[in-house]
Amino acid sequence: MKIYAVKILDINEEELEDLCLFISPDKKLKINRYINKQDKIRTLIGEILIRSIIVEKLKIKNKNIVFGTNKYGKPYLKDYPLMNFNISHSSEFVVCVIDDKSIGIDIEKVKHIKYDDIAKNFFSLSEFEYIIGQTLDFQLSKFYEIWTLKESYIKCCGQGLSIPLQSFSINMNQSEKIKVVHNNKHNEHIFKIFDIQLGYKMAVCSLNKDISNNIITIDQNSLINNYSKLDLE
Ligand code: COA
Ligand code: MG
Repeated sequence: MKIYAVKILDINEEELEDLCLFISPDKKLKINRYINKQDKIRTLIGEILIRSIIVEKLKIKNKNIVFGTNKYGKPYLKDYPLMNFNISHSSEFVVCVIDDKSIGIDIEKVKHIKYDDIAKNFFSLSEFEYIIGQTLDFQLSKFYEIWTLKESYIKCCGQGLSIPLQSFSINMNQSEKIKVVHNNKHNEHIFKIFDIQLGYKMAVCSLNKDISNNIITIDQNSLINNYSKLDLE
C-alpha cells in the first residue's frame, strides 16, 4: 500500500488544456463541465497522479491505461485486479492510495459547520453520542474524523451513498482499533486517521492487515514535469 498527497497550485488555462490532451475522454468532459477552476485542477491532478503511478508501477504506457467505473461510479483499472486505487480531493489537497485489495480514502478541509445537527441527522446514534461526548473543543475535529472514516469506508466498498449512512457505525473507542459495524455485523475493514495538515482530516479504509503510516508528498510541478516527459501518445 502507498499513500500519496499533492498540494494544489494554480495552473494557467493553456497548461490546463494541454494537460487534458492525454487523459480519458470522460475525465476531460468532467473537467470541462466544472465552472470552478479549482475543481478542474483537483480532478486533473488526481488523474495525472494516478496515471503517473500506474505508468511507474506497472511499466505500461499512458495510452494503454483503461479505467472502468463500477455501477456506483468507483473508478478501477481494467485488466489489473491487483492495482486498486482511490482518490480524494478537498481544497488544497489531492490524495491517492494504491493497494492490492479494495481501498478507500477521504480528505476533508475542516469547516465550521453545524456538526451536531449533521451528526444527529446523518450519523448513527453511537457516532453522534461519541462526538457530543467529547469536550467542546474537540467535537468539530472528532466529527470530521467520523465523517472521513465513514466516507473512506463507503469508498472502499465502492457503493457510494447507496449505503445509507446510518446503516453502519464507526466504533473508535479509546485504545482499541477503529472498527465498523454494518447492519449489526462486524466487518473486517481496518482504518487509520491522518493529521495531514492543520485544518484537514484524512482517513484510509483497507481490507488488508496494515495501513501505511507514511504519506508520500509529491510537488505538483514535479508531478506535471515528469508526466509531460512520459511517452503520452
Ligand atoms: N466509490 C469510491 N470512489 C469513488 C466513487 C465511489 N462510488 N465515485 C467516485 N469515486 C472517486 C473518484 O476518483 C472521485 O474523483 P474525481 O471526482 O476526480 O473523479 C473521488 O472518488 C472523489 O472523492 P472525494 O474527493 O472524496 O469526493 P466526495 O467526498 O465529494 O464524494 C463519493 C465521494 C462520490 C464517493 C460519495 O461518497 C459522495 O457523493 N459523497 C458525498 C459526501 C457525503 O455526503 N458524505 C457523507 C460522509 S459521512
Ligand atoms: Mg470526500
